[in-house]
Amino acid sequence: MRKPILIGNWKMNGSLQANQALMVRLLPRLRLFRRAIDLAICPPSPYLFQVRDLLGYTGVMLGAQNAAGYVSGAYTGENSATMLQEMGCRYVIVGHSERRVLFHESSQEVAARFRAVLSAGMTPILCVGESLTERESGLTSVVIEQQLQAVVDEVGIAAFANAVVAYEPVWAIGTGQTATPEQISEVHQKIRKFVAGSAPEASIDLGQELRIVYGGSVKQANAYDIFSLADVDGGLIGGASLHADEFGAIAGALADASGVTGEVSAI
Ligand code: PGA
Repeated sequence: MRKPILIGNWKMNGSLQANQALMVRLLPRLRLFRRAIDLAICPPSPYLFQVRDLLGYTGVMLGAQNAAGYVSGAYTGENSATMLQEMGCRYVIVGHSERRVLFHESSQEVAARFRAVLSAGMTPILCVGESLTERESGLTSVVIEQQLQAVVDEVGIAAFANAVVAYEPVWAIGTGQTATPEQISEVHQKIRKFVAGSAPEASIDLGQELRIVYGGSVKQANAYDIFSLADVDGGLIGGASLHADEFGAIAGALADASGVTGEVSAI
């Protein structure tokens, strides 16, 4: 049984004042769903301490947006996985397309970051996804399999038992253009098949156990339809996670699509 998960990725947004205001409005909404779904917030690193305190004992977990692939040393500007773990992080996003495209992180580098997050006892959220040109050239599956394979080569397929994969088509991120349910289903099924096929001898059925979430212009209006798809286990939410009403409603849509209503799970 895969427990649904909703992750808010604030990207490089926020301020002490804005974060406080957002959390005060958001947390009462999220509390309704914490039994039904896993919830995580990934603020920029300077605000991890603040957000950890605001989360308190709500059950909403803290995450980071990236982690170094190195343990420690002369890597100016990087945060080690151990440091993030010490801050209270449970999840770390790795391989977000903004990192891959804008900061030229290769799939090998992403794999090293994935390893570091696992070694520090946290759960990596591995982002994979194709650009528009790659999709239009029929390369979607090839690109995503290469991104997954780089991680398999680094840590082995069994490591996926402690990971979340996020399918984020690059052309759908922050553009308002969402992938269609057919496109999402097709890729999620392929990711599951790839993982199952890479672990034929695994004692648990990794393909069935792996949580795969969708990200890319998810909002209140389209969340329920996306989360109702059989192979979608939740969402990685950027822009909409900065708005309490919107993110709260998306959490409600995920709980509903999973068959557990907010009222039932309220404490
Ligand atoms: P978006 O971003 O929801 O703003 O499209 C998603 C992401 O980048 O994780």
